[in-house]
Amino acid sequence: LNNGVARTPPMGWNTWNTFGCNINETLIRQMADAIVNTGMRDLGYKYVVVDDCWFDPNRDAQGNLQAHAGRFPSGMKALGDYLHSRGLLFGLYQVPREKTCAQYFGAWPGSTGSLGHEYQDARQFAAWGVDFLKYDWCSPWGTINDQIAGFSLMRDALAATGRPIVYSINPNSIHEKTGPQRNWGDIANMWRTTEDITNAWNTGQTNGYPMGIQNIVNVNVPIASYASPGSFNDPDMLVVGNGGMTDTEMRSHFALWAIMAAPLIAGNDIRNANAATLDILRNQNLVAINQDSLALQAVQVSNDGIRRVLAKRLANGDVAVALFNQGNSTTTVSTTAAAIGKSGNSFTLRDAWTNTTSTSTGTISASVPAHGTVVYRVSGGGTTTPPPPPTTFRLRSESS
Ligand code: DGJ
Repeated sequence: LNNGVARTPPMGWNTWNTFGCNINETLIRQMADAIVNTGMRDLGYKYVVVDDCWFDPNRDAQGNLQAHAGRFPSGMKALGDYLHSRGLLFGLYQVPREKTCAQYFGAWPGSTGSLGHEYQDARQFAAWGVDFLKYDWCSPWGTINDQIAGFSLMRDALAATGRPIVYSINPNSIHEKTGPQRNWGDIANMWRTTEDITNAWNTGQTNGYPMGIQNIVNVNVPIASYASPGSFNDPDMLVVGNGGMTDTEMRSHFALWAIMAAPLIAGNDIRNANAATLDILRNQNLVAINQDSLALQAVQVSNDGIRRVLAKRLANGDVAVALFNQGNSTTTVSTTAAAIGKSGNSFTLRDAWTNTTSTSTGTISASVPAHGTVVYRVSGGGTTTPPPPPTTFRLRSESS
């Protein structure tokens, strides 16, 4: 969406993956402080997004949304002011239909969705200092055309406020009702491409609930061509640091999200994050690849079912390449400079995880542990040619 924001993938933190509805203003302020104190803010993790369950079950007499008084007694404007005072940005959650997911599934009372209140709510968000809106379909009602209408209405309402607000949509909650994948770049800055992520490598889903890392990659890789400045596929928020996976798998998750130009929205408790988790989230080589100004999503170079290679062209002519081992034992994953769009015969490879360099005359290869991903930033050589075209779109037929 060409609205001036999210020219590179948005980065930040969101309440949902760890806290669900158990949120309050003290928690958010503590998390904001932790994001600053760990150095994450200065790496780019700026958007602090309060997901579902922040609101009172009832609108006020004028139909305005209200903060939940018990959990946000100081109100949302004060919360936004606090985040801004810490050099962070403020995100909130809402839905285009009658009920949020938590209201629909009974975890939160009321019926306070934006239906019929779109412009009023957009003005409210702007008045509170909101910088990011997550707009979650979450309704068993409706067709793809209903979604296009509902999501477009809030896009226009946000634009009418005059405030720059990142617009993040989720057409995929209760996915089976909503039809095929679509490029939502005409409507939103980022759009969920799958059902919800969970703390698992592989849940066996091709696009059902919930999705593991391998399953999401299978859906999100083929639609690489949709990404551009202001418009990003969103393979869901990070689960780094949330358990359920080995450190190798967590590193793969982060490396693949980074090279897929995914929004990097952490979902762990930053206050208690261990060193391994922080090392992953704060990997400067991968953040730089993710935040590259060309804003391209890595395209698939090859995939034999075990060894999968993705390449992302970068603004300075370098190419980032991911050597991903989808199998269950260590294997060598290889490609060539030519295959990733580089000409010449002398290259420097910087390993994003070890931050060490090696040289190559054209072969790009690594021994990769099971479920691991080695990422190299490849520089040198002659002119860069465009990356190979994306693979044919095969949303639900790819095996997990
Ligand atoms: C479904 C979304 O996919 C989640 O990320 C989260 O926003 C929940 N809804 C909240 O109810």
